[in-house]
Amino acid sequence: MKKKIGIGQSHSKIILMGEHSVVYGYSAIALPLKSIEVFCFIEESKSVLNRDPQDPVSVAIFASLDYLGEEAYISYRIASGVPERRGMGSSAAVAIAAIRATFDYFGQALSLSLLEKLANQAEEVAHCNPSGLDVKTCLSDVAIHFVKGEGFKPLLFDLDAYLIIADTGLHGHTKEAVEKVKALGDSAVPHLKSLGDLSQQAEEALLTNNLSDLGGLMTQAHKELKQLGVSSVEADELVAHALSVGALGSKMTGGGLGGCLIALTTTEIQAQMIAEKLEEKGAINTWIERL
Ligand code: MEV
Repeated sequence: MKKKIGIGQSHSKIILMGEHSVVYGYSAIALPLKSIEVFCFIEESKSVLNRDPQDPVSVAIFASLDYLGEEAYISYRIASGVPERRGMGSSAAVAIAAIRATFDYFGQALSLSLLEKLANQAEEVAHCNPSGLDVKTCLSDVAIHFVKGEGFKPLLFDLDAYLIIADTGLHGHTKEAVEKVKALGDSAVPHLKSLGDLSQQAEEALLTNNLSDLGGLMTQAHKELKQLGVSSVEADELVAHALSVGALGSKMTGGGLGGCLIALTTTEIQAQMIAEKLEEKGAINTWIERL
Protein backbone atom coordinates (compact mmCIF):
# COMPACT_ATOMS: atom_id res chain seq x y z
CA MET A 1 0.00 0.00 0.00
CA LYS A 2 1.51 3.32 -1.14
CA LYS A 3 2.11 6.04 1.42
CA LYS A 4 1.63 9.76 0.91
CA ILE A 5 5.30 10.27 1.65
CA GLY A 6 8.13 7.74 1.93
CA ILE A 7 10.96 8.59 4.30
CA GLY A 8 14.45 7.10 4.45
CA GLN A 9 17.37 7.99 6.70
CA SER A 10 21.05 7.16 6.98
CA HIS A 11 24.10 8.45 8.82
CA SER A 12 27.58 9.15 7.55
CA LYS A 13 30.89 7.46 8.30
CA ILE A 14 34.56 8.12 8.72
CA ILE A 15 37.42 5.76 7.91
CA LEU A 16 39.90 5.51 10.77
CA MET A 17 42.39 3.28 8.98
CA GLY A 18 42.66 1.32 5.74
CA GLU A 19 41.18 3.45 2.96
CA HIS A 20 42.45 2.37 -0.47
CA SER A 21 44.19 -0.75 0.85
CA VAL A 22 40.70 -2.06 1.70
CA VAL A 23 39.95 -2.16 -2.05
CA TYR A 24 42.79 -4.72 -2.36
CA GLY A 25 41.58 -7.01 0.41
CA TYR A 26 43.41 -5.56 3.43
CA SER A 27 41.49 -4.86 6.61
CA ALA A 28 40.08 -1.44 7.44
CA ILE A 29 38.50 0.22 10.47
CA ALA A 30 35.65 2.70 10.09
CA LEU A 31 33.25 4.48 12.43
CA PRO A 32 29.65 5.54 11.98
CA LEU A 33 28.97 9.24 12.50
CA LYS A 34 25.49 8.84 13.87
CA SER A 35 24.82 12.53 14.44
CA ILE A 36 25.57 13.48 10.83
CA GLU A 37 22.49 12.32 8.95
CA VAL A 38 20.80 12.39 5.59
CA PHE A 39 17.08 11.99 4.83
CA CYS A 40 15.29 11.25 1.58
CA PHE A 41 11.59 11.98 1.02
CA ILE A 42 9.62 10.43 -1.82
CA GLU A 43 6.22 11.60 -3.00
CA GLU A 44 3.82 10.92 -5.83
CA SER A 45 4.38 12.87 -9.05
CA LYS A 46 2.36 13.33 -12.23
CA SER A 47 5.50 13.03 -14.33
CA VAL A 48 7.96 10.16 -14.53
CA LEU A 49 11.30 10.56 -12.73
CA ASN A 50 14.26 10.75 -15.10
CA ARG A 51 16.59 7.72 -14.99
CA ASP A 52 20.21 8.89 -14.91
CA PRO A 53 22.72 6.01 -14.87
CA GLN A 54 25.53 8.44 -13.90
CA ASP A 55 23.76 9.74 -10.79
CA PRO A 56 24.10 7.53 -7.69
CA VAL A 57 20.76 8.70 -6.19
CA SER A 58 18.94 7.93 -9.43
CA VAL A 59 20.67 4.54 -9.59
CA ALA A 60 19.65 3.82 -5.97
CA ILE A 61 16.00 4.78 -6.59
CA PHE A 62 15.71 2.93 -9.91
CA ALA A 63 17.42 -0.17 -8.51
CA SER A 64 14.68 -0.13 -5.84
CA LEU A 65 11.86 0.52 -8.34
CA ASP A 66 13.11 -2.26 -10.63
CA TYR A 67 13.32 -4.67 -7.71
CA LEU A 68 9.79 -3.77 -6.62
CA GLY A 69 8.42 -3.75 -10.19
CA GLU A 70 7.04 -0.24 -9.68
CA GLU A 71 6.85 2.73 -12.05
CA ALA A 72 8.66 6.01 -11.45
CA TYR A 73 5.72 8.39 -10.94
CA ILE A 74 7.58 9.85 -8.00
CA SER A 75 9.72 12.82 -7.07
CA TYR A 76 12.34 12.88 -4.36
CA ARG A 77 13.96 15.41 -2.05
CA ILE A 78 17.20 15.01 -0.11
CA ALA A 79 17.92 16.82 3.19
CA SER A 80 21.51 16.19 4.11
CA GLY A 81 23.85 17.20 6.90
CA VAL A 82 26.61 15.14 5.28
CA PRO A 83 28.95 17.33 3.28
CA GLU A 84 29.20 15.99 -0.25
CA ARG A 85 32.41 14.54 -1.63
CA ARG A 86 34.42 14.99 1.56
CA GLY A 87 35.17 11.35 2.37
CA MET A 88 32.34 11.16 4.91
CA GLY A 89 30.32 8.60 3.02
CA SER A 90 27.85 11.03 1.51
CA SER A 91 27.25 8.91 -1.61
CA ALA A 92 26.66 5.73 0.41
CA ALA A 93 24.48 7.52 2.97
CA VAL A 94 22.33 9.23 0.32
CA ALA A 95 21.90 5.94 -1.55
CA ILE A 96 20.81 4.14 1.64
CA ALA A 97 18.34 6.92 2.53
CA ALA A 98 16.93 6.92 -1.04
CA ILE A 99 16.45 3.13 -1.09
CA ARG A 100 14.79 3.17 2.33
CA ALA A 101 12.51 6.03 1.24
CA THR A 102 11.49 4.20 -1.97
CA PHE A 103 10.60 0.99 -0.10
CA ASP A 104 8.83 3.02 2.58
CA TYR A 105 6.78 4.91 -0.03
CA PHE A 106 5.56 1.64 -1.56
CA GLY A 107 4.96 0.16 1.91
CA GLN A 108 7.41 -2.69 1.27
CA ALA A 109 9.70 -4.41 3.77
CA LEU A 110 13.41 -4.12 3.07
CA SER A 111 15.97 -6.55 4.46
CA LEU A 112 19.40 -5.32 5.48
CA SER A 113 21.10 -7.58 2.95
CA LEU A 114 18.97 -6.27 0.07
CA LEU A 115 19.54 -2.68 1.20
CA GLU A 116 23.30 -3.25 1.23
CA LYS A 117 23.23 -4.87 -2.22
CA LEU A 118 21.20 -2.06 -3.81
CA ALA A 119 23.28 0.66 -2.11
CA ASN A 120 26.47 -0.91 -3.45
CA GLN A 121 24.99 -0.76 -6.97
CA ALA A 122 24.73 3.00 -6.53
CA GLU A 123 28.28 3.08 -5.15
CA GLU A 124 29.52 1.47 -8.39
CA VAL A 125 28.60 4.79 -10.02
CA ALA A 126 29.98 7.05 -7.30
CA HIS A 127 33.26 5.14 -6.89
CA CYS A 128 34.75 2.62 -9.21
CA ASN A 129 35.07 -0.85 -7.74
CA PRO A 130 33.77 0.04 -4.23
CA SER A 131 35.06 -2.17 -1.44
CA GLY A 132 31.67 -2.01 0.29
CA LEU A 133 33.22 -0.39 3.39
CA ASP A 134 31.28 2.88 3.13
CA VAL A 135 27.88 1.22 2.81
CA LYS A 136 28.63 -1.26 5.59
CA THR A 137 29.71 1.53 7.97
CA CYS A 138 26.72 3.73 7.13
CA LEU A 139 24.54 0.74 8.02
CA SER A 140 26.33 0.08 11.31
CA ASP A 141 25.71 1.66 14.71
CA VAL A 142 29.18 0.76 15.97
CA ALA A 143 32.74 0.88 14.66
CA ILE A 144 33.64 -2.00 12.36
CA HIS A 145 36.62 -4.00 11.20
CA PHE A 146 35.98 -4.73 7.51
CA VAL A 147 37.57 -6.96 4.91
CA LYS A 148 36.24 -6.79 1.34
CA GLY A 149 34.46 -9.96 0.30
CA GLU A 150 34.88 -11.49 3.77
CA GLY A 151 32.65 -9.31 5.88
CA PHE A 152 32.88 -7.28 9.01
CA LYS A 153 32.96 -7.54 12.77
CA PRO A 154 31.81 -4.92 15.24
CA LEU A 155 34.58 -3.28 17.26
CA LEU A 156 33.46 -2.38 20.75
CA PHE A 157 35.63 0.06 22.67
CA ASP A 158 35.10 2.98 24.98
CA LEU A 159 38.18 5.15 24.98
CA ASP A 160 39.08 8.40 26.65
CA ALA A 161 39.77 9.78 23.23
CA TYR A 162 38.32 12.19 20.73
CA LEU A 163 38.59 12.39 16.99
CA ILE A 164 38.58 15.76 15.30
CA ILE A 165 37.32 15.65 11.73
CA ALA A 166 38.32 18.66 9.65
CA ASP A 167 37.15 19.56 6.17
CA THR A 168 39.84 20.93 3.83
CA GLY A 169 37.07 22.60 1.86
CA LEU A 170 38.10 20.79 -1.30
CA HIS A 171 35.94 18.20 -2.96
CA GLY A 172 37.39 14.73 -2.58
CA HIS A 173 37.74 12.64 -5.73
CA THR A 174 37.32 9.05 -4.64
CA LYS A 175 36.85 7.57 -8.10
CA GLU A 176 39.92 9.34 -9.48
CA ALA A 177 41.98 8.43 -6.40
CA VAL A 178 41.02 4.75 -6.65
CA GLU A 179 41.94 4.81 -10.36
CA LYS A 180 45.22 6.57 -9.57
CA VAL A 181 46.21 3.83 -7.11
CA LYS A 182 45.22 1.15 -9.64
CA ALA A 183 47.36 2.80 -12.32
CA LEU A 184 50.41 2.56 -10.02
CA GLY A 185 50.31 -1.22 -10.48
CA ASP A 186 53.03 -3.15 -8.62
CA SER A 187 54.64 0.00 -7.21
CA ALA A 188 51.54 0.52 -5.02
CA VAL A 189 51.80 -2.92 -3.41
CA PRO A 190 54.30 -2.11 -0.58
CA HIS A 191 52.22 0.93 0.45
CA LEU A 192 48.96 -1.00 0.35
CA LYS A 193 50.48 -3.82 2.38
CA SER A 194 51.85 -1.34 4.89
CA LEU A 195 48.44 0.35 5.17
CA GLY A 196 46.88 -3.05 5.84
CA ASP A 197 49.48 -3.81 8.55
CA LEU A 198 48.98 -0.39 10.14
CA SER A 199 45.24 -0.95 10.22
CA GLN A 200 45.69 -4.27 12.03
CA GLN A 201 48.05 -2.69 14.55
CA ALA A 202 45.58 0.15 15.04
CA GLU A 203 42.87 -2.35 15.91
CA GLU A 204 45.13 -3.80 18.59
CA ALA A 205 45.87 -0.28 19.89
CA LEU A 206 42.16 0.57 19.95
CA LEU A 207 41.20 -2.55 21.82
CA THR A 208 43.98 -2.10 24.39
CA ASN A 209 43.35 1.63 24.84
CA ASN A 210 46.85 2.51 23.63
CA LEU A 211 46.22 5.98 22.30
CA SER A 212 49.78 7.09 21.67
CA ASP A 213 50.34 3.97 19.52
CA LEU A 214 47.07 4.59 17.73
CA GLY A 215 48.04 8.19 16.98
CA GLY A 216 51.47 7.17 15.66
CA LEU A 217 49.89 4.53 13.42
CA MET A 218 47.45 7.08 12.00
CA THR A 219 50.30 9.45 11.14
CA GLN A 220 52.26 6.64 9.48
CA ALA A 221 49.17 5.73 7.45
CA HIS A 222 48.95 9.34 6.27
CA LYS A 223 52.55 9.12 5.00
CA GLU A 224 51.73 5.94 3.06
CA LEU A 225 48.61 7.52 1.55
CA LYS A 226 50.65 10.56 0.61
CA GLN A 227 53.19 8.34 -1.13
CA LEU A 228 50.34 6.69 -3.04
CA GLY A 229 49.51 10.20 -4.31
CA VAL A 230 45.98 10.34 -2.90
CA SER A 231 46.47 13.12 -0.36
CA SER A 232 46.42 16.84 -1.15
CA VAL A 233 48.62 19.81 -0.22
CA GLU A 234 45.78 21.18 1.91
CA ALA A 235 45.29 17.92 3.81
CA ASP A 236 49.06 17.54 4.31
CA GLU A 237 49.27 21.06 5.76
CA LEU A 238 46.36 20.51 8.12
CA VAL A 239 47.71 17.11 9.23
CA ALA A 240 51.08 18.74 10.01
CA HIS A 241 49.31 21.56 11.84
CA ALA A 242 47.21 19.16 13.93
CA LEU A 243 50.40 17.37 14.99
CA SER A 244 52.18 20.64 15.75
CA VAL A 245 49.38 21.73 18.12
CA GLY A 246 49.44 18.47 20.05
CA ALA A 247 47.34 15.84 18.26
CA LEU A 248 48.53 12.30 19.01
CA GLY A 249 48.15 11.43 15.36
CA SER A 250 46.54 12.70 12.20
CA LYS A 251 45.75 11.51 8.69
CA MET A 252 43.61 12.14 5.65
CA THR A 253 40.46 10.03 5.56
CA GLY A 254 38.38 8.55 2.75
CA GLY A 255 39.18 8.57 -0.94
CA GLY A 256 41.30 11.72 -0.76
CA LEU A 257 42.54 14.20 -3.40
CA GLY A 258 40.72 16.68 -1.16
CA GLY A 259 38.09 15.96 1.48
CA CYS A 260 38.68 15.56 5.20
CA LEU A 261 41.40 14.68 7.67
CA ILE A 262 41.15 13.29 11.18
CA ALA A 263 43.23 13.96 14.29
CA LEU A 264 43.33 12.10 17.60
CA THR A 265 43.45 13.54 21.08
CA THR A 266 42.53 12.60 24.64
CA THR A 267 40.23 15.26 26.06
CA GLU A 268 37.27 17.19 24.74
CA ILE A 269 38.96 20.49 25.60
CA GLN A 270 42.05 19.47 23.63
CA ALA A 271 39.80 18.40 20.76
CA GLN A 272 38.06 21.80 20.74
CA MET A 273 41.41 23.58 20.81
CA ILE A 274 42.76 21.50 17.90
CA ALA A 275 39.53 22.01 15.94
CA GLU A 276 39.83 25.80 16.42
CA LYS A 277 43.49 25.77 15.33
CA LEU A 278 42.58 23.76 12.23
CA GLU A 279 39.83 26.24 11.37
CA GLU A 280 42.27 29.14 11.82
CA LYS A 281 44.60 27.30 9.40
CA GLY A 282 41.90 26.96 6.74
CA ALA A 283 39.63 24.01 7.57
CA ILE A 284 36.13 25.13 6.56
CA ASN A 285 34.35 22.93 9.09
CA THR A 286 35.21 20.62 11.98
CA TRP A 287 33.38 17.94 13.95
CA ILE A 288 34.35 16.23 17.20
CA GLU A 289 33.55 12.55 17.81
CA ARG A 290 34.17 10.63 21.03
CA LEU A 291 35.84 7.30 20.37
C1 MEV B 1 36.32 5.63 0.09
O1 MEV B 1 35.53 6.18 1.15
C2 MEV B 1 37.18 4.52 0.57
C3 MEV B 1 38.08 3.86 -0.48
O2 MEV B 1 38.84 2.88 0.21
C4 MEV B 1 37.29 3.24 -1.61
C5 MEV B 1 36.48 2.03 -1.18
O3 MEV B 1 36.69 1.47 -0.10
O4 MEV B 1 35.64 1.62 -1.99
C6 MEV B 1 39.06 4.86 -1.08
